[in-house]
Amino acid sequence: MIACNWKLNLDRGTFLAQHWQSQPLLIRNAIRDFKPPVSSDELAGLALEEQVESRLIEHHGNAWHVHHGPFQPCDFDRDHPWTLLVQAVDHYLPAVAELRKLIDFIPQWRVDDIMVSYAAEGGSVGPHYDNYDVFLLQGSGERLWKLGQFCDGSTALLPHDQLRILDTFETTEEHLLRCGDILYVPPGMAHWGIAQTECTTFSIGFRAPRISDMVSRWADQLLEKLEPDTFYRDAKRAPMPRAGEIHQRDLDRALAQLREALEQADGSKWFGELVTEPHYTLLQDEDNLAQSLAVLTGDPKTAELAPAAKLAWQQDATSIVVFANGECREFGESILPSLLILCENWCLTAPQMKTALADVSTAALLDYLAESGVICVV
Ligand code: SIN
Ligand code: CO
Repeated sequence: MIACNWKLNLDRGTFLAQHWQSQPLLIRNAIRDFKPPVSSDELAGLALEEQVESRLIEHHGNAWHVHHGPFQPCDFDRDHPWTLLVQAVDHYLPAVAELRKLIDFIPQWRVDDIMVSYAAEGGSVGPHYDNYDVFLLQGSGERLWKLGQFCDGSTALLPHDQLRILDTFETTEEHLLRCGDILYVPPGMAHWGIAQTECTTFSIGFRAPRISDMVSRWADQLLEKLEPDTFYRDAKRAPMPRAGEIHQRDLDRALAQLREALEQADGSKWFGELVTEPHYTLLQDEDNLAQSLAVLTGDPKTAELAPAAKLAWQQDATSIVVFANGECREFGESILPSLLILCENWCLTAPQMKTALADVSTAALLDYLAESGVICVV
């Protein structure tokens, strides 16, 4: 893994206290001497590939059209302003994955992917809002960003099957972004980027589970643990005053029994499993996997985190629960030093590997991570 040579010019404490999830922030020269790690030609090349998710959006006045990849080179020859959006470029290009290290003050499991766009002059994906935080890092060229009102599910959209273009946009701020500038946009805030010259934009996007998904996963985990033959009880109930009525006391009793059951069956692995679930199909390279497992039993040199890996962990009373691409396993606390290095540096060097393999639990952890496709051992 190449070292992260870029430094983010940002006061992390002020950002987290005043902007994260609430207010936009323009960071001029956020990365000094920034050289975009992917060119428009390389991006176009990725969009020709079957397994890469890409879209092309073009507009003619108020008429917006979307086309889905994979594309042919002739698709990039267009009369109207257009934008090519390539999803999860960090999963394919380690140099783009490096940009995630800039945001090292927010857990990696909150990061979704890095989408890269190329826009021809005048290109735009239209006024819209996203449900997630995004850092919009300007690569080559110049783009004018307009910020607008906060939106939610009730905000009016233009009629369109696939695009969520806002019906009205109330401009509150405008910023012209040049190479290395970043605009942070919180969830729900309307934004509208218009390419002033042909340009590329790197969107470091975050993820957050829906509350409805959290409830369903939490309930699923709980149901696995609950004793099925325990039933609602209403011993010592008062006489029924009105026929057929469900009294507030009946409801209170039901809720109290639910709370009691939840306390007994508490478990918290559902959260880590949910937030580390891959959003994109992972290309599990069978050769790499077999090689990693073989090298682990032989004389391994280094381990590297796969660019698309979702790795997180939590400390329980007596163990460390490791979440790898949506699954989890428990290990002894002795894995912590190696696990921390892996999460921080995205790799274990040869001496660090030696130390790791000398501990039985950490050796088992490396096996598990190699099997899950989270690390590649060479
Ligand atoms: C773009 O890069 O054109 C769009 C990014 C965004 O609005 O999230
Ligand atoms: Co957006």
